[in-house]
This record gives sequence, structure tokens and C-alpha cells, in this order.
Amino acid sequence: MKYKYHLSFSIGILSFPYTFFKFTYIGSPNSNTIYWAKRMEDGSEKWNFQGNKKLNASSISVRGVYNMLMERVNNSRDKKPLVPLCRVDPTENPLFRTTPEATDSVSTAVNSYNFNCYPPTVGLPDAKRAIANYLSSDLPYQLSPENVFLTIGGTQAIDIILPALARSDANILLPRPGYPQYDSRASCCLLEVRHFDLLPERGWEVDLDSLESQADENTVAMVLINPSNPCGNVFTYQHLKRVAEIARKLGIFVISDEVYAHVTYGSNPFVPMGVFSSIVPVITIGSLSKRWLVPGWRTGWIATCDPHGIFQKTGVVKSIISYLEITTDPPTFLQAAIPEILGKTKDDFLSKNLNILRETANIFYDLCKEIPCLTCPHKPEGAMCVMVEINFSQIKDIVDDMDFCAKLAEEESVLLLPGVTVGLKNWLRISFAVDTSNLVEGLSRIKAFCLRYAKMP
Ligand SMILES: Cc1ncc(COP(=O)(O)O)c(C=O)c1O
Repeated sequence: MKYKYHLSFSIGILSFPYTFFKFTYIGSPNSNTIYWAKRMEDGSEKWNFQGNKKLNASSISVRGVYNMLMERVNNSRDKKPLVPLCRVDPTENPLFRTTPEATDSVSTAVNSYNFNCYPPTVGLPDAKRAIANYLSSDLPYQLSPENVFLTIGGTQAIDIILPALARSDANILLPRPGYPQYDSRASCCLLEVRHFDLLPERGWEVDLDSLESQADENTVAMVLINPSNPCGNVFTYQHLKRVAEIARKLGIFVISDEVYAHVTYGSNPFVPMGVFSSIVPVITIGSLSKRWLVPGWRTGWIATCDPHGIFQKTGVVKSIISYLEITTDPPTFLQAAIPEILGKTKDDFLSKNLNILRETANIFYDLCKEIPCLTCPHKPEGAMCVMVEINFSQIKDIVDDMDFCAKLAEEESVLLLPGVTVGLKNWLRISFAVDTSNLVEGLSRIKAFCLRYAKMP
């Protein structure tokens, strides 16, 4: 690369740009300092550093898209009250309040002054034991506290597991559509991403052929999200067993993202993947965020479901601990509250929330049928969002899902997530974890919008 060197210096508050051979002054806030900088032939400065282009390239994120859409709303001429159906934050529904058992446990922990210290690297022993017991109640065997590691929400669990597996030739299988944090995180470490498809026409089951065909001898793991964000489906026992058997055949393990564990309100009950860990080792990701309606508490966990000790033998547990040693932890007082939160939460609280979700899912599904140009292939039965296809053959003047969402934000102040963010271009992800009136209003504005852009027959 061609560049000139320039000499620079400043005296007092005055700055004098001199060119001396190939060096020039580039400015000093503190004066009396001589600065050297490389200058390109066109006069621009050359620095040795720059932003990480890989990171910038992977920056299609829910947060980034949300900020872009909010800007559209704020710039719109006749702004309507906002209807946010883009992020899945249950606290956007005023009926979704966490239980007093949770807030009381946290305030007891804070007021005790016993938890102002740093926590142990792998988490407080009592919290680990409580999580192990909580998860074991759905498993055919008992997890031990050593199987559990506390994390800052499900997000940090992802952030820890993926680098713990990375090596220069490794690849990981992710569902499409999926949760974008996996793609973003993999692109920041040495982990090639390969996608297998989920099939809308089969209730978003895994396309097992696509799963097998993506794998090779360098595949280390696959991810399954159950109940599913973004699809809103719940995998059956039989299907999960089939996936476990294929993973076993491929010699990989399963990362089972169960951040929405037990958030089910249809005919399929929640079955943890750990049930099949005698077939294949499973790492479970969990969190308080959704079931307890406290995403801001940033408290989650990793659990190794591995009765044959394969994660120990292969060094995966050691890698997780090594990663935990160089990262930070969920606040100690929140960890301290976990035994009471898990142990004392009443069934009434949990079932009331599921009833609300069942109702909003029904409202969504019925009203969506009346919207021209949109098709929902599968009624949601778990989690808090759903995928909807845009029928572009029936729409004019909108080029893709991103354009759809940008125009909708600007014209109707309704926020939806473009499908491309979760891996499915020209689809939309819609959150229904909002109050009924907001949902009805949002869907009626989406309908008006679609009618405006519908092609005339
Ligand atoms: C599938 C999935 N995994 C992980 C997370 C992250 O969990 P948390 O909010 O506890 O960090 C989310 C959050 O929405 C999610 O939907």
C-alpha cells in the first residue's frame, strides 16, 4: 500500500501543520508533543487499526433491526402510538408481572448483605443444586450440581458454549429459521455455520435429511430450540428421539436451547432433550427470562445432561470452566434467590401466564387469517412468537421482508421482525407476548397496510 510519512508538532495552543519529507503534524490536544502519522497519497491519514470487519458483517441482529425500525417510526410524518411486536419481551404486556415469590427472594438476598461478594466462577453451590433438582424432575436420572453452570441469561450460555467448541476446522449445525445469537456468536469464533431446515408444512419439524446432509467429520454439535423461537412450535417426544438418534449416528452432541421450557399451551407437552441423553450427550440452555417474565434479571444456566460422562472425557466441561474463568457472572444476589424462585413459585402463576399466551396465540391466528398477503402455516403452541410468510405475488411496491417492516414501521408504527434476521427471507417473525388490545390494534394496522399494497386482481 502506498503512503507518505509526515512529521507533526504543535506549540502551546497553536498548531502548525508542516510537511517535512514524508511526515506531517496531525494535531495534539495537549501541545508540545510531536506526532507521527502515516498519510496516504490522497492526503487521508492511515492508522494501523480498524473495526473488526467480521463483526460488522455479522451485525444483522434483532437489536440492530429494532433500532433501525424505531428510527423509521420516529421519522414518520403522522406517528401513531407504537405497537411493538418485534422483540420478544414479555414485560411489554402489563399482565405479565413476575411472581411475588421471585421479587421477595431477590429482596431477601439483597437485604441479607450476604451476597455483595463476587460469586464463585461456576455459580453459587445452592443455586447450582436448585437448578439441578429443578431440571431433574423432568429427567429419568438425577443431575448433580456439578452439571450446572450459572450464566448471564441464556445469551451468555450461547456465548460460552460456542467458543468452547471452536477450532479451525469445526462446524456447527443451526436450525433455519433460528435464533440469530448463534450465528453471530459462531462468526466471532472459529466455528463454521451450516444450516438445516425446519419445515413449516410439517409444523416446523426438523428436516432430518437436511440435518444429516449438512454434517461431516468436522461437525461438532447441533442446536435445537424447543419450544421454538421463532416458530412457536413444540417438538414431540418421538421427533426429539429421532433427532437424538441422528446426532448419535453423526457423532455430535445436541445443544438444546430450552429458554422457553414449559412455555407450552397447545397439545404437545414440553419434553426436555436431556431425556435422550443416554443416546447422545446434551447441553441444555435455560433461563429465568421467559417463564418467570424477568428478562432484565439476566439469569440463566448451562446444564450438561450426560450420564456417560462424555463431556468430561472430551474436555468440553474443562473448556466451559476455562471460558467462565475469563468472563463475568450473573449478580450474586440473583443467584442466591434461585433456590426460592424455583422452589416456591406457585402453579397458579405459571398456568395464568400460559392461559394469557394461549389466548393471544388464538387471537393472533384467527386475525392473521383475515390479512391478505400473509400466511401463518402453523398455529403457535409454545414460546411467544410465530413465523408468517409474505406472499409477494400478491403485493406491489415492496421488495422484501426488510422493506415490508421498514414501510410498516414508518406508515403504521407497528414493529415486526424481518424474517431475514432469523434466517428466512421474505417471512416475518411476530411476537404476541403483548396485551390483547395492542395485538388486535397491531394486526388491524397490518391488515390496512397489506390492503394498501395489495395488487389489484
Ligand atoms: C431461543 C433463545 N435462546 C436464548 C435467548 C436468550 O435468553 P436470555 O434472554 O435469557 O438471555 C433467547 C431470548 O429471547 C431465546 O429466544
